[in-house]
Amino acid sequence: MVNIGIVGYGTIGSGVFEVINTNKESIAKKAGEPICVKRICDLREFPGDPAEKLITHDFNDILNDTEITVVVETMGGTRPAYDFVKSSLLAGKSVATSNKELVAKYGAELIKIAEEKNTNFLFEASVGGGIPIIRPLNQALTADEILEIKGILNGTTNYILTKMQRDGAEYETALHEAQDMGYAERNPEADVEGYDSCRKIAILTSLAYGTQVDYEDIYTEGITKITAKDMYYAKALDATIKLLGESRIVNGKVYARVAPALISSKSPLYSVNDVFNAIFVKGNVLDDVMFYGRGAGKLPTASAVVSDVIDEVKHKDRHITILWSSKKLNLGDINEASGRYFVRVPAEEREAAVKVFPAASEVKVEKVKGEYAFITGEMTEKEYSSRVEGLNVLNMIRVSF
Ligand code: HSE
Repeated sequence: MVNIGIVGYGTIGSGVFEVINTNKESIAKKAGEPICVKRICDLREFPGDPAEKLITHDFNDILNDTEITVVVETMGGTRPAYDFVKSSLLAGKSVATSNKELVAKYGAELIKIAEEKNTNFLFEASVGGGIPIIRPLNQALTADEILEIKGILNGTTNYILTKMQRDGAEYETALHEAQDMGYAERNPEADVEGYDSCRKIAILTSLAYGTQVDYEDIYTEGITKITAKDMYYAKALDATIKLLGESRIVNGKVYARVAPALISSKSPLYSVNDVFNAIFVKGNVLDDVMFYGRGAGKLPTASAVVSDVIDEVKHKDRHITILWSSKKLNLGDINEASGRYFVRVPAEEREAAVKVFPAASEVKVEKVKGEYAFITGEMTEKEYSSRVEGLNVLNMIRVSF
């Protein structure tokens, strides 16, 4: 039997406890032996909870327990999670985590410690919730050179944008509904400003190229400026608006960004709605592959964590190689990235806009008056910025088709 310790008994941690108990027998078969939760560390008390008796407030009760060989970290944040994970690995325990902040910032270092200690640090749940994407990148897509990763990586913003698209709702109304449904947090900043997607695309890009992508280097724009009017225009274009995390290699340089984008109804990402996520990967020999599923939520995310625990039990005495060195990957300057742009300006600026974007195609919507909206031709971000200088841009959204 393998004993595990869980650090952080919130939504995901309690989900891990539930999954391990619900699927006890099939998990034991797949792992080769039964898996049992021995201790759970959390500052809170949980009276009446099935795990009540396992709770400790002292992490040392897990760290110093030599019978506990696998630690599940589901606290979130980097402190004290980093210290708990690092000391667990140094003590020769394997760690499975759902913590994207921790993985994005310290992934390379923690993988190296795991390698030195011949143990494992796995983090399937850190990107895409229950969707398998870390293991595929690390194990299944290894014959390929990854050319592009493009994904809807955040369930909360996807729920809000879906609501805006379906109901014609304004951003604030859709956000409040997402909060009432328990999808968006009371302080929704990390999701709606794109920070969560940014950490996730940083992790995926680091894995794709085997080197450290610092999330601070990734251009990040959230969804707070998207309006009901933008959605009307998107509909007129037979498209919708999604928050995309993207990275791609162009002439040997890797470009990464998080920003809302217009997605055509022909794209498989168009139909990824509500809290679902999808990640599209292009390999140089495989071509396109897409991963779709629940990107957030208690049991789907816990399912990914438990799959890591099972892998760690199966690889007790063997480190699973993950190529992710701490060598920094210098990203290409986003200003050099090329694309087309959907732009709205007040009607009185139509002439000025046509002058600087003579090849632009106009987008008309019955419901919206007093504006000139258009899609530019292909140009770099730098060129776009210099052309719009002096124009009163009401909104700009990048076109992804
Ligand atoms: N807040 C995240 C989301 C949770 O909405 O996708 C999963 O990382």
